[in-house]
Order: sequence, then structure tokens, then C-alpha cells
Amino acid sequence: MTTLSSAQKEIPPDMIDLGIGQPSPGLLPVEVIASAAAHCTEHPGCMLLPYGSEQGDGHFRVALSEFLEGIYRMPLDPAHLLVTNGASQGLDLICTLFSKAGDSIFVEEPTYFLARKIFADHHLRPVALPMDADGLIIEALKEQLKLTRPAFLYTIPTYHNPTSVCLSAARREQLAEVSQRYDFTVVADEVYHPLSYTLAPPPPLAHFCTSAHVISLGSFSKILAPGLRLGWLQAAPAVIERVVQCGLLDSGGGLNPFTSGVVRSAMELGLVDANLRLLKNTYARRMQAMCSALRSRLPGSVQFTDPEGGFFIWLTLPDDTDTRELLSKAKKRNVEFMPGPRFSSRQELKNCLRLSFAYYDTPELMEGVERLSAVIRAR
Ligand SMILES: Cc1ncc(COP(=O)(O)O)c(C=O)c1O
Repeated sequence: MTTLSSAQKEIPPDMIDLGIGQPSPGLLPVEVIASAAAHCTEHPGCMLLPYGSEQGDGHFRVALSEFLEGIYRMPLDPAHLLVTNGASQGLDLICTLFSKAGDSIFVEEPTYFLARKIFADHHLRPVALPMDADGLIIEALKEQLKLTRPAFLYTIPTYHNPTSVCLSAARREQLAEVSQRYDFTVVADEVYHPLSYTLAPPPPLAHFCTSAHVISLGSFSKILAPGLRLGWLQAAPAVIERVVQCGLLDSGGGLNPFTSGVVRSAMELGLVDANLRLLKNTYARRMQAMCSALRSRLPGSVQFTDPEGGFFIWLTLPDDTDTRELLSKAKKRNVEFMPGPRFSSRQELKNCLRLSFAYYDTPELMEGVERLSAVIRAR
């Protein structure tokens, strides 16, 4: 049978897989990359092909800091940035350098399912902390700190994957303060921060990176293209220095110098800003259409909150639902989603599921919602 390939997953042709949290192929900016590549290779002596400097090219980091200043609304020093191959690789590097097998780490419940896999590769022990509508519950964190000291705490503060919840501004301050007081590192995965569709989100945790206790991860995967494998780590100089000294960078030089040269041109030409505007308009439209379709089609027993940004809608079904069983039924009707237990460090959340509006355009999203609602109603 022919299948549509969405990287990381093969999709049968009639299937609408609302679980896929990636941009649609049509949103990948081939022309932007072609123009930027032409622009950066035009300069005689352009330095894209030797080993790169360990922290990442200085011109790229200047362009990135200016781009981020616009999004984060704060001054940003390029010396606090280090180039990565994306947030996943940044996280893997943090696990390598700042934890050892058997260490406890704190994660939100639920959390990004593939980060769970990275932690498992490093033999770390996730301790799940509860969230509510304002994100991670700081009182629960403080209680847990009386019992365990983590190697680090991993959080997705803005447009969380899978819930889309934002950590409130007050809790961001409390988290930074608690990490100082109890002396542990907060790793903030902020890949969705630039994708706001309604109100601006609270200031990123990157805001607190002047302290050695907060490391922020960012990526071009959600705002340009995941195939670029380009991201950054923002941290205080002591942390950057530790990473710069690591064996990986010592042997291979800075990560992705060629691609960072291309993306530097894209930023300097204003193409990344323009692409981000296009993505925000497109995703906002899809999100609104999907939320209204879900509201009118789903039974009243299914709950969700409209996201304000990011890629995801998190549904909570009645307690006695098992969304893994529901998924087997859904596949027979050519619709898929991501069942809640994949995001749980306690094998819980059986009655929840994640949908995404990033991969399909509105007509397919509408059809997907129609099929999914029929499966839920027939349950
Ligand atoms: C929270 C979160 N972090 C990281 C990633 C992966 O980022 P990257 O492509 O930069 O490795 C994703 C992608 O789905 C994600 O949702």
C-alpha cells in the first residue's frame, strides 16, 4: 500500500492522523532556504565549510539575538547563546553534561513524550509533578524538593506539549527563585514560545538565564523547518563555558555551521520574520476552525481549553475512557490521535488525548474532527 511519509511516521493514504505534531509539507519554506543559501554562498571567502567555532558562529549569534529580542521583548547578549542541532540535541547534551545514570529529574505530568525517551536513554528517573491551568504547580515542586533533589527540572513553560498550557508570569518568577534557593537547574524547552496566536505569552524563562540555574532551549524546527536541525541553548556564561569544553564540540567543532550560515542570511533578509508571520496566521486559522468544530461535534462530556499558541489541543474524556482502546477503534475509521498515556511518566492520563492542527489544512482537520467525534460518540 502506498503511504504518505511524514518523517518519524508513515501515514496510510486515507488516514487523517491528528496526532502528528509537525508542520504540513506545504508550510516548509523551500524558497526562503533557497534564497538564503544563494545569499550566503555569494560572499567570497564565506566561512561555512571549515569546522565551526564551538559556541557557534558569532555573526549568526548576533543575528539570532536580534531576532529573539523582537520575540522575547528583552535585551539578549549573543555571548549567552550556543548553537545546537535542535532542542532535542540540546536536551541530550544537557543530560550528558549535567546528570548521570540513576539521577532523578523532575518533569511535568504530562510531558513531551519524546523527551521521556531522551531521559530513558540516559537512564534518568523522571519524577512527575502536577500541573493545572497555570502550568507547573510550584507548591507541589516545593513539597517534592523536601524528598528529592533533581539533577534538573525539565519544563515546557509556553504552549506546553501536549496541553498547550502556559506557566503564569508569577509562577515563572517563583520557579526561578525556587531553583536558586534549592540550587537545581531548570531546563526550559521554549520551542513553541514564538508561536502565539492571541495574547502575547508571559516573558520566556530565557529571561532568567542570567542565573546559572536556568537553561533555555530554542529551535528553528517550529518557526522555519525541522529538517534544518538547528536550534540554540541560552544560558549564563558558566553553563555555556561548560558546554563549549565538552568532548563533542572539542572533536567536531561547533554544531551545524553550514546551516547556521544559511539561517543567518534568512534572518538578515527578514525572511524568518516573514515566515513566522505566515505560520502564525495559518496556525491561528486552523486552530480556531478546529476548536469550533470540536465544540460543535464532541459530546459535552469531553473537555478542552482553546490554546493561545503552539500546535496542540488536549482533550479530557470521561474518567472511564481508555484512549488507547479508543485509538484502535479510531484507526478503523481512518483517524488517529496521540493517546494520553504516552505523555505520562506514571502510565496515567488514560482518559486524555492530544490533537494537533499543525499538519493538516482546514478541510482535512474538519473531516478528522468529524471522524473522531463519531468514534467518541459511539464509545
Ligand atoms: C516540546 C518539544 N521540544 C522539542 C521538540 C523537538 O525539537 P527539535 O526539532 O528542535 O529537536 C519538540 C517537537 O515536537 C517539542 O514538542
